[in-house]
Amino acid sequence: MDDTRLQLKRYIVNHNFRKIVILTDDTILHLYSDYFDFLPDAKKLIIKVSISESAKKLSVCSQLWETLIAHEIDKEALWVNFGGGSVSDVGGFVAATFKRGIHMVNYPTTLLGMIDAAVGGKNGINIENVKNVVGCYYFPKSIFIDSSLLKTLPYTELLNGFAELLKYGLICDKQLWMELKSISSLKPQSISKDWIQRAIAMKTEIVEKDPYDAHERRILNVGHTIGHAIESFLMHSSLPITHGHAVAIGICYEALFSFIKGKLAKDKLEEIWRVIRKFYEFPDFSSSDVMKIAEFCMQDKKITQGVISIPLLTDIGTAIPSEKMTKQDILYLFDQAKMNFFNL
Ligand SMILES: NC(=O)c1ccc[n+]([C@@H]2O[C@H](COP(=O)([O-])OP(=O)(O)OC[C@H]3O[C@@H](n4cnc5c(N)ncnc54)[C@H](O)[C@@H]3O)[C@@H](O)[C@H]2O)c1
Repeated sequence: MDDTRLQLKRYIVNHNFRKIVILTDDTILHLYSDYFDFLPDAKKLIIKVSISESAKKLSVCSQLWETLIAHEIDKEALWVNFGGGSVSDVGGFVAATFKRGIHMVNYPTTLLGMIDAAVGGKNGINIENVKNVVGCYYFPKSIFIDSSLLKTLPYTELLNGFAELLKYGLICDKQLWMELKSISSLKPQSISKDWIQRAIAMKTEIVEKDPYDAHERRILNVGHTIGHAIESFLMHSSLPITHGHAVAIGICYEALFSFIKGKLAKDKLEEIWRVIRKFYEFPDFSSSDVMKIAEFCMQDKKITQGVISIPLLTDIGTAIPSEKMTKQDILYLFDQAKMNFFNL
């Protein structure tokens, strides 16, 4: 048995849990059907749900709450989210609300899950296509990282998580950025466990300072305002892109905004564009696309009176939590980027 499963085994023994409830999705269970064989059958309950973004919904939560009642799960149970962010978002919400909260740990299986979704205590479900609109803060008691699970992750999912890793380098770990930018072709083996641990430590430290997103935590949103808008704009097109891919593009545009605001040096901006474009394709947006993207930006949660508050990069490895951005700024950014950065 690998170290991570041994750690989980010890954790279970130390806490003397009566039952272990493992939430996972069918793809993962199919790939790792014997992963939890070290736990006796009588002690474990594996719940398999067809979980993906579209399954982050209330009816799935209801099904899960009913299953827990049917199996007489109580506060002496351990809840394990074994999957990507979709699993930990739904599972976190169910664990937080069942009997007003049962002991929960995350056991992420995607890169995004390991460095982002499993850390920081946010969970959530979608209602009527509004993403993560219902949820709460419920912090996992522990996070178990087995980076060998990444070997089966599809390339697009790897790239999806890699964007967040690049973001951590840019906002608070220059050394990490230097190491990431030297990767020539991204593979599961390129991702070191050390990077994952560093990213988790960085997010944990930022979240501890500001658990409920009032100030410092906002630097984690670098690239996300424009990224979310691009993701939403392309969602129903013939070429949708993953959240991480959109965030990677968003980082470039928001870095350009930092430069325009006099906060980021030109050579750093160009380096960011060059590195991110090495890994990610950039769609060629027409002016009417850009107008729609700017409108999506204006639906951002952090908007007041037509002005969005976004975090900005001030160097490679540092960021500030807030700067004001308007719709006009966004249109200008896309214009400038097309003229100056697509040929770097
Ligand atoms: N709560 C937070 O702080 C937070 C942060 C970031 C993202 N999220 C949420 O996370 C979700 C996205 O999560 P995700 O990117 O981890 O993807 P995901 O959980 O949707 O999984 C993506 C796909 O990868 C498959 N998969 C998972 N692990 C695998 C493995 N080891 N091998 C092969 N296939 C595997 C899954 O079955 C699924 O088909 C979104 O809903 C997003 O809103 C939450």
